Amino acid sequence: MNGKGPSVDSATGTEAPRGEVPRVSEPGGSDGYDFVVVANRLPVDFSVRSDGGVDWQRSPGGLVTALEPVMQHNEGAWVGWSGAPDLAHEPFDADGMRLVPVTLSAEEIQRYYEGFANDTLWPLYHDVVATPSYHRAWWDAYRAVNQRFADAAAAQAAQGAVVWVHDYQLQLVPKMLRDLRPDLRIGFFDHIPFPPIELFQQLPWRRQIVEGLLGADLLGFQRGGDASNFIRAVRRLTDYTTRGPIVTLTDADGRPGRHVRAAAFPISIDSHRFDALARTPEVQQRAKEIRSELGDPDVVMLGVDRLDYTKGIRHRIKAYGELLQDGRLDVERSTLVQVASPSRENVGAYQELREQVEGLVGRINGEFGEYGHAAISYMHHSYPPEEMAALYLAADVMLVTSLRDGMNLVAKEYVAARSDERGVLVLSEFTGAADELAPGPVLINPHDIDGMKDAIVAAAQMDPREQRRRMRRLRRRVMSDDVAKWAESFLGVLTALPHRSSHV
Ligand code: F6P
Repeated sequence: MNGKGPSVDSATGTEAPRGEVPRVSEPGGSDGYDFVVVANRLPVDFSVRSDGGVDWQRSPGGLVTALEPVMQHNEGAWVGWSGAPDLAHEPFDADGMRLVPVTLSAEEIQRYYEGFANDTLWPLYHDVVATPSYHRAWWDAYRAVNQRFADAAAAQAAQGAVVWVHDYQLQLVPKMLRDLRPDLRIGFFDHIPFPPIELFQQLPWRRQIVEGLLGADLLGFQRGGDASNFIRAVRRLTDYTTRGPIVTLTDADGRPGRHVRAAAFPISIDSHRFDALARTPEVQQRAKEIRSELGDPDVVMLGVDRLDYTKGIRHRIKAYGELLQDGRLDVERSTLVQVASPSRENVGAYQELREQVEGLVGRINGEFGEYGHAAISYMHHSYPPEEMAALYLAADVMLVTSLRDGMNLVAKEYVAARSDERGVLVLSEFTGAADELAPGPVLINPHDIDGMKDAIVAAAQMDPREQRRRMRRLRRRVMSDDVAKWAESFLGVLTALPHRSSHV
């Protein structure tokens, strides 16, 4: 394999996250890796060349930024899928990490990733804002693929290693891995909400999912409410005893066994890297250009999302269109920029959403747009971090209107970019970020279109002193709780837990 090197990441600078890099296990001594991350995707993108060879390129994600120093300090390996069908690779080294590709067939991608992960669990865990589909063949594929990830992790981990499993695609891995390797210390972090039992119990395989997760020693969630929802699911669906955040499992002979802890560890971004990027003269200049390309309106509003039905994009655009209709905003003085990056395009609900959003944008632009003054500038692409930082700086009002969101890192990026202490964050109550950041943002209920319209107008007209007061508060939070601190705190708790090898 030919490595192209970290060309994507170098754009954001190579400064390591601050803070102490945790040593998670004793170095050396046995074969295998002391720290193993298991996530659906590898932190690299693969592309197949015309001669059939394969290139890879680093993909800049928050998770890899946070975990890279831990990996480099601890003989780390990362087990994940390449993102392409039937791509089989030997493990390889990149930037001090061992990358271990897991191969998925086209049918597994359709059943495990697009099906069970993104058409069953994703809508179910996001308050059923779209209807989940339950198919036994998808469940079978989910189990089989989870087993493959568990086998790959078991093969890489050194005796007594720490293994950190990530997200809803891999909820069976903790138990599968413990069955294979009871010597390991296993953590799991759920990046999305964990649903209330009243919704979770719809899932035909709810008990297996709970048992799968309980294979971990430590379960991390975005909010305290998600951890409580999980504990309630354990109480309702199993006979295990729970005491506060601790679940006590039962040994093979029926006696109390291993303990599992469930707690909140709200994830963050590499705030300092983003802050530094937004201070560069190039990004500041680009922000000015963006405003001028938009026709120099008084107020630029911005939405940045994966094109996902959980993000409330339609609700936001509807509210904006009504404000133009009512004459409370006008296109010569205000504009909305909506970046909707392509996502999960083979899943029907995402295809329908794209049609609805693009139809709505077209109608509003047709009705209210003028030469040189589009009502909405809609982009269906993703942009590199420099352009995102410039957009955040160009935006007077940031609109995050999710119907349900585990955290929402866009809200935190906006804050990290605004060292000028200007700009207003309008934030849905239904995000993990709202739990953490209130009272700095203007909080909204995206289902309440009239309330959201009033909040948008209030944000657009907010006095600069009030903007500064709110943004200072937001920045204190976002700049101190960065993603490196998140990883340190999760791994700190995981490695401090008393370790008891057991098959329970
Ligand atoms: O946690 C949600 C998540 O899986 C993120 O990790 C990821 O950035 C996003 O959804 C999109 O995921 P994917 O493109 O792998 O479906």
